[in-house]
Amino acid sequence: MSAPNSIFVRACRREPVERTPIWLMRQAGRYMPEYRAVRKQHSLLDICRKPEVAADVTITAAERLGVDAAIIFADLLLPLQPMGLDFHFEAGEGPVVHKPVRTGSDVEALRDDCVRELDYVGESVAKVVAHFGEKLPVIGFCGAPFTLASYMVEGGSSRNYIHTKQMMYREPQTWERLLAKLVNVLADYAAEQVRRGADALQVFDSWVGCLSVEDYRRYVLPSTTALIQKLKATGVPVIYFGTDSATLLSDMRTTGADVIGLDWRIPLDRGWQSAGHDVAVQGNLDPVTLFAPAEEIRARAKEILRQAGRRPGHIFNLGHGILPETPVENVIELVKCVQGGL
Ligand code: CP3
Repeated sequence: MSAPNSIFVRACRREPVERTPIWLMRQAGRYMPEYRAVRKQHSLLDICRKPEVAADVTITAAERLGVDAAIIFADLLLPLQPMGLDFHFEAGEGPVVHKPVRTGSDVEALRDDCVRELDYVGESVAKVVAHFGEKLPVIGFCGAPFTLASYMVEGGSSRNYIHTKQMMYREPQTWERLLAKLVNVLADYAAEQVRRGADALQVFDSWVGCLSVEDYRRYVLPSTTALIQKLKATGVPVIYFGTDSATLLSDMRTTGADVIGLDWRIPLDRGWQSAGHDVAVQGNLDPVTLFAPAEEIRARAKEILRQAGRRPGHIFNLGHGILPETPVENVIELVKCVQGGL
C-alpha cells in the first residue's frame, strides 16, 4: 500500500473522513482529449502492455480531474490471452474472442498457470505508485469470474447470455471448472498488483445483473466469494461492483467485500440498506447525468450525498463508467462539487 491514510482508503474501511472521496470508473478514456491523442499512436492493448504509456494515461486522467484515487489503466480482458484465448477490439462492437469457450475440452485447454505473463500490469501499478507516493491511492482491478466467463463463452458482449447460461444449466461441472480456473488466475493477478503497491482492488462484475437471484447464488456466488476472500487476504480493501444488481445486493455483500459498488438504478439509500450498513458503498450517479446542465449535475450529486447521510463509508462514483462523448468540463465540475461539499 502506498497511501493507507488517504480519505479514499479510510472511507473503504468505513473510518470517518473530512469529506467524501470521489473517483470515476473509466476516468481515463475516450471522452478525454489527452487519451484520444495517445490512442492515435497506440492501440488499446498496446497502451495496456506498455507500462510507461499505461502509467502516463492513468496519471494524466487522475491529475486532470483532481480525483481522490487513480485506477490503473488496463482492461478486464487482459487475462484471456495468457489463458489461451486470442481476442481483439472491433471498432463500435467491443471485444471479439476468436474461439469462444463452449465445451469441457475447451475449458480443459485453458491455462491457469500463466499469471507471470501479465506482469506488465504490475509494472504499470509500480510506476503510478512511484509517481504519486502517499499523495494519491492507486486502485488495481480485475474482472469477476462471471463477467469474464461471459466474455469467454459468448465470444464478446451479449444481450441474453444464452451460451453462458446454457453451460451453467447443461454442463454445471464444466462451468464450475471454468470459474475455478478464473479464480486461480484472477487471485494471483490481483495479488501481484497489490505487491506492486495498489491500495485497493475493484472486482468488476459488470454483467452480473442478467442473472436471477437463484442462479446467482447457485452458479456464481461461491466462486466469487472464493476470489474476494483471496483478495482480502492481500490486506487491501476490496470493492465489488456490478450493474443491474439491485436484486443481488444482499447476496453480493456475503462475499465479504469491504465496499459494494451501486449502479444508478437504485437510490443510494435503498442500495445501502440492501447491502447493509456494516459495509461501505460506492456510487452512484447515472453517467448520462454528465450530459445535463451544470446545475442539474450539482443537484443530483447533492441528492446522493444527502442519501449517504454522512454515514462513514461512502465513496462517490458514477453508477457505471464515463461514456465516450461526455463533456470533460462537466466531469471536472462534478469532482469539484463533491469535493467542495456542494
Ligand atoms: O476506469 C479506468 O479509467 C481504467 C481503465 C479501464 C478500461 N477497461 C480501459 C478501456 C477499465 C477499469 C476497464 C474495465 C473493463 N473492460 C470492463 C469493466 C468495466 C465496465 O465498463 O463495466 C469491461 C466490461 C471491459 C471490456 C471492454 N473493454 C469493453 C466492453 C470495451 C468497450 C469497447 C468499445 O469500443 O466501446 C473495452 C475497451 C476499453 N477499455 C476502453 C477503455 C478506455 C475504450 C476503448 C478504446 O480506448 O479504444
